[in-house]
Amino acid sequence: KYPTPTGEGVIPPLQFEIVGKWGKARAAKLTLPHHQCSTPMFMPVGTQGTVKGLTSQQLVDLNCGVVLGNTYHLGHRPGPEVMDSVGGLHKFMNYPRAMLTDSGGFQMVSLLQLAEITEQGVQFQSPHDGSTMVLTPELSMGIQNSIGADIMMALDDVVSSTTVGPRVEQAMYRTLRWIDRCIKAHKKPDTQNIFAIVQGGLDSRLRDICMEGLMAREFPGYAIGGLSGGESKDMFWRVVHQCTSKLPENKPRYLMGVGYALDLVVCSALGVDMFDCVFPSRTARFGTALVASGSLNLKSSEYAFDFTPIDSECTCMVCKNYTKAYLHIVAGKEAIGGQLLTFHNIHYQMSLMSQIRQSIIDQTFPNFVKSFINKQYPNND
Ligand code: GUN
Ligand code: ZN
Repeated sequence: KYPTPTGEGVIPPLQFEIVGKWGKARAAKLTLPHHQCSTPMFMPVGTQGTVKGLTSQQLVDLNCGVVLGNTYHLGHRPGPEVMDSVGGLHKFMNYPRAMLTDSGGFQMVSLLQLAEITEQGVQFQSPHDGSTMVLTPELSMGIQNSIGADIMMALDDVVSSTTVGPRVEQAMYRTLRWIDRCIKAHKKPDTQNIFAIVQGGLDSRLRDICMEGLMAREFPGYAIGGLSGGESKDMFWRVVHQCTSKLPENKPRYLMGVGYALDLVVCSALGVDMFDCVFPSRTARFGTALVASGSLNLKSSEYAFDFTPIDSECTCMVCKNYTKAYLHIVAGKEAIGGQLLTFHNIHYQMSLMSQIRQSIIDQTFPNFVKSFINKQYPNND
């Protein structure tokens, strides 16, 4: 018998109740220590203890259930001592709802070319003072316990989805070995959940072995990792479908780093419950607004005399108060441009997820998908 994150007979601080289904798609209530969320849901990314450009109150106004934080960034600044003194990230950033922290390894590997992975952990040279640091499963769990997020991600060995050869298998088995160190190091199983991350690249045999290993340990939730890194859409959807067909029906499934509208619709249809991505907030800072037909680059001079909102059907604060002509002047330049477009884009994501949920519950999901596709890919014949 493998160790489990909550130990023998301990109930995890999470409940997942399916309230509607259409094919593989599900709508559910996910109850976490700080909030009851409705899934499928999108979780905005707040790397440094802030979703860039939004206040905690605005996140609540946007009806965000879960905000993401990153162990690597928060572990460096403000650091676990400040977190422990203030009583966790919820209090520090005055965000009353649920949070999820990624384990840090993925960010180090993708941000720092200097990172080297050993059995011990992810080793890297600090960009701040040049010292060598090793992010081990124990250190990642320790920092995440100090941050106090409702969901902590296990430290995984991630390789880019375009990697082939023995490295993919090595990373998958190492992810399985690190899992037991994560479980052992987790000091708050009654208030924080660990989610395990399925790795194995684009290889269905490796994905299967990984899922079997992780499911034997009975986590409160499972993530699908190692995707959205340049693989073809066809392979991406194949791997997601394989994982959602095998992972437990009664546990939440989280697809990491995915947030384009089409992927949210398709992967919800495949049975994914949780998504995160920096895309909507990052693209907002570059001056792009998300709309039903795709996106608008507000920096373009075509909007200089357009005194209509980004989207006349959008109910968000930005669309009620500002015109495209105004946003054209501030987009990509002024701080307020990034803030307003981030607000609209997160509202767009939240509204898309709410329509997905409602149509699953109402049994009108196929109609929703058809109308979504028609708007994104209009047939001009
Ligand atoms: N974010 C996007 N993909 C991944 C992944 O595979 N692992 C982790 N830890 N974070 C991610
Ligand atoms: Zn809007």
